[in-house]
Amino acid sequence: QTPSARCPFHAATDAEIAGAVADFDVFEGPFTVDPAAAMRLFRERRPIFFSPKLGYWVVSRYEDVKDVFRDTGAFSPANALEKVTPSSAEANAILASHDYAMNRTLVNEDEPAHMERRRALLHSFLPAELEKHAPMVRRLVARFVDRFVDRGEADLVDELLWEVPLTVALHFLGVPEDDMEVLRRYSIAHTVNTWGRPSPDQQVAVAEAVGNFWTYSGQVLDRMRLDPSGDGWMEYALRRQRELPDVVTDSYLHSMMMAGIVAAHETTAHATANALRLLLEDREAWDEICRDSALIPNAVEECLRLSGSIIAWRRVALKDAEIAGQPIAAGERILVVMTSANHDGRHFENPDMLDIRRDNTTDHLSFGYGAHQCLGKNLARMEMRILLEELSRRLPHMRLAEQRFDYLPTISFRGPDHLRVVWDPAGNPERADD
Ligand code: HEM
Repeated sequence: QTPSARCPFHAATDAEIAGAVADFDVFEGPFTVDPAAAMRLFRERRPIFFSPKLGYWVVSRYEDVKDVFRDTGAFSPANALEKVTPSSAEANAILASHDYAMNRTLVNEDEPAHMERRRALLHSFLPAELEKHAPMVRRLVARFVDRFVDRGEADLVDELLWEVPLTVALHFLGVPEDDMEVLRRYSIAHTVNTWGRPSPDQQVAVAEAVGNFWTYSGQVLDRMRLDPSGDGWMEYALRRQRELPDVVTDSYLHSMMMAGIVAAHETTAHATANALRLLLEDREAWDEICRDSALIPNAVEECLRLSGSIIAWRRVALKDAEIAGQPIAAGERILVVMTSANHDGRHFENPDMLDIRRDNTTDHLSFGYGAHQCLGKNLARMEMRILLEELSRRLPHMRLAEQRFDYLPTISFRGPDHLRVVWDPAGNPERADD
């Protein structure tokens, strides 16, 4: 028997594949447990299919996902922030009572407006500008690790991984850091509202939080307008508005303030939690980075490849087009599954293996690709690197506690709700240094 004949996916009958297509669900079943593994059958046998439950064409191979990202003339990101689950009338009324009007931000803007704005607002993301934040990130991580380093156990999500990226995000945007707990709650609500499947009851609570988030974002912006001289990205955007009022509009700034807080925070928190889970489950890889911190930048990329925090993203066809030979009609919606592309053996050798020395791992698509590729990717990378450097230096002996990992079911965002670790404080390297 040839290997392909032995492979269960090659052996699957057309009827089995048709059944898998009909059952495909991003909110329940195998996709929620291990999305990349759940996509393997499709990646091998049906690289593009229409999911009746979801109402999207689902694309799973590396080259096809990249092609869709690349071709903004055919595939628009206009639906990137559309609600996957339409709101109930009651939830809509609550949102309306807050004058909720989330509109275009960079991520869901078509050309040529998008590129004009992206260029106008690029400055804060230049490597030299981002590097200025590194000492602050390191101080912040040290302060949070100090709080639990002698305790012997911690929930890294609750005690480190959301607080650091959220504080950095606010600092980066120029937003005061007074309301962190509330903002975390608002961000989760925005994620559920946009990418999740809230029940009718949840929709009401979520709409209330999202409405408040919208009002809060407007208030912060109004205060900032009084003196936009600070270093934050939003302050920079307000100054650019004076020069380019038609490019950087009020509506745009308000939407960007809210979307920016979420984009800059949850993504990085989840990605670091995913990375730590992967590394601690593969003790050899963890021990290697503890011995040699120079391996960390590539380990970060490899973790983003294997288990990124945005596993899938959306596009809508602007005109009749084709993906992997499949005709797509104008107006049809597409889900590109980056985590599947990142596990595609056509591009990555031994794709399911964690290899922190892999030489093409930065080819991963977890930050998207092309004109809309994540603007904050180098800030996220820097935060992840510093978090891993500090944890591997100060707690090389930590290990995962016995636990079940839970994930909020969404079409795009993925990271564990908690990440519990334990260690013996008597073995802390800094005690030996005393
Ligand atoms: C866009 C992922 C962190 C700001 C995106 C996109 C993805 C993504 C998938 C859409 C790309 C596309 O459509 O081709 C991530 C991941 C992160 C992360 C996985 C963390 C590990 C950040 C941070 C910031 C940020 C820290 C801000 C400081 C943005 C912005 C865009 C974007 C502004 C829109 C870019 C455009 O459309 O021109 N990100 N992101 N992201 N991200 Fe991130």
